[in-house]
Amino acid sequence: MKFFIDTANVDEIRQANSLRILDGVTTNPTLIAKTGKPFMDVVKEILEEVPDKPVSLEVASTDYEGMVKEGEYLAQFGKNVVVKIPMTIDGLKAVKHFEYKGIKTNVTLIFSPAQALLAMKAGASYISPFVGRLDDISHTGMQLIEEIKTIRDNYDFHTEIIVASVRNPLHVVESAIIRADIATIPYKVIAQLAKHPLTDIGLERFLKDWESVPEKPF
Ligand code: E4P
Repeated sequence: MKFFIDTANVDEIRQANSLRILDGVTTNPTLIAKTGKPFMDVVKEILEEVPDKPVSLEVASTDYEGMVKEGEYLAQFGKNVVVKIPMTIDGLKAVKHFEYKGIKTNVTLIFSPAQALLAMKAGASYISPFVGRLDDISHTGMQLIEEIKTIRDNYDFHTEIIVASVRNPLHVVESAIIRADIATIPYKVIAQLAKHPLTDIGLERFLKDWESVPEKPF
């Protein structure tokens, strides 16, 4: 499974990148706003940190012409730029346009298998079903991923499925169990994945016992 990081914070991207487990970055307007920095400064910083991995940058327009204009503008900043487009009728038209132009797309805000099917049919390079937000309203987010995967594999669509709106380590583990292509994970959850209380207790004990070992070479 590929690990993307879901953030616009370049320090977090740098941290994850230093672990050498990072396969890409996804952002959205909320994450960009959180940085408090000018949009293009954030974009350039991210693309400098990860010049060779897919970076999803979201358009702000909701009409076809606006999405095309903004997406083409963003795409000129790197071959690895993936234009993130909301799941709407105009969005689907824009996906077709970008596919024709050889620009990758990530269709976002997917909450149903029907939406996923349309986006894959339109030629999306990636789709982002939001598991956490579905869980929030008592739907099983991970079940959506399974259904979309079945549809994708039934017809050999080339679209990669990004498990998005990941909120906890279990979302990541469940994604891996069902062989999701990609999970886009907040930095906090990446850090949580490494933690286990028995690891901490075990390490503390080893360090304490090490003190009583005689004639240590280091
Ligand atoms: C997906 O690409 C979005 O950026 C993100 O995963 C949304 O997550 P949230 O529901 O925690 O805001």
